[in-house]
Amino acid sequence: MKSIVIERPDTLRFAERAVPEPGRHEVRVKVRLAGICGSDSHIYRGHNPFARYPRVIGHEFLGIIDATGPEVDPARLGERVAVDPVISCGHCYPCQQQRPNVCTSLAVLGVHRDGGFSEYAVVPAANAWAIPAHISDEYAVMTEPFTIAANVTAQVCPHPDDVALIYGAGPMGLTTLQALKGVYRVGLVIVANPVNERLAMAQHSGADEVINNRECALDAWLAERNIRPTLIVDAACHPAILDEAIRLASPAGRIVIMGFSTASCTVTQQAITGKELTIYSSRLNAGKFPVVIDWLARGLIDPGKLITHKVDYQQVIQAIELFERDQQHCCKVLLTFP
Ligand code: NAI
Ligand code: MN
Ligand code: ZN
Repeated sequence: MKSIVIERPDTLRFAERAVPEPGRHEVRVKVRLAGICGSDSHIYRGHNPFARYPRVIGHEFLGIIDATGPEVDPARLGERVAVDPVISCGHCYPCQQQRPNVCTSLAVLGVHRDGGFSEYAVVPAANAWAIPAHISDEYAVMTEPFTIAANVTAQVCPHPDDVALIYGAGPMGLTTLQALKGVYRVGLVIVANPVNERLAMAQHSGADEVINNRECALDAWLAERNIRPTLIVDAACHPAILDEAIRLASPAGRIVIMGFSTASCTVTQQAITGKELTIYSSRLNAGKFPVVIDWLARGLIDPGKLITHKVDYQQVIQAIELFERDQQHCCKVLLTFP
């Protein structure tokens, strides 16, 4: 089989590998479709501190179970599945708190273990989630990016009276936006981003207001309208944003961060305690595949609005380069496998 392997930073190879056999509690997935994510590009470029090389990248993928391990129900053969990339031990403290996404021995497919940019992938059977027949491949492969939004929103329990502000209209901001509007029915969702084409994507995904915060000062824009966001999601993840978010938030507001920058940012106790703000963080997803599959089944979200390109997996280098270069026209790129 062919696998897309990052041998070392900046070196991508189409490797010919033996088709793997599933272990006791594993299934083998014949991959049909996979999504390119920022972290794939970061591993390719050597910017992901968690990655080990060589690595088959890809953690957003969909396929058909074509072999089952000895302990797995053979009735699962032929199931169309989306794969949760989060592999956890099941018994450490975070796992016992239903937070396997921060398991003390966390392994993420496509990062710590070989992932889905391959004709076949072997994964724990428990990570392979059946997709109802009426959900298309293109929508189903978007389950993982929406689980990030499901995790973010589960932290903060949004409600219709919230005034939400999302920084960033990349895939993460847009999935969160769709969850806030489609699932939680938040009354007012504002999206800030410095690229106008991304703001157009946000409008297409249901944003009530968009603002180009490079051309226009966000604090003044909000003050003119007498808006104090009660819920702020930083899906742009620049370290300077937290300080601004703390300043802009309503008293009793909630803020979610999801970035991995190692740069410091300056915040003061008074700015947080004075308004009794709550600051959450969110990483990957904690058991959110069934949640998002339910959202998809009920038509509460529309992943198609994020998909801008679909290309043959052999074009992966061009696809990653396009993804890195062209924020204006490119959002989610899907790779098709034979
Ligand atoms: P992206 O790069 O496509 O989107 C980020 C967007 O933020 C871009 O459109 C950019 O123009 C915009 N932006 C940059 N500076 C801004 C600012 N000051 N204010 C408002 N918008 C600004 O990336 P993607 O895939 O949407 O991911 C966003 C971030 O989320 C990344 O930093 C990524 O590392 C992080 N991430 C975190 C995850 C988690 O589980 N915690 C999972 C996936 C991504
Ligand atoms: Mn992803
Ligand atoms: Zn654990």
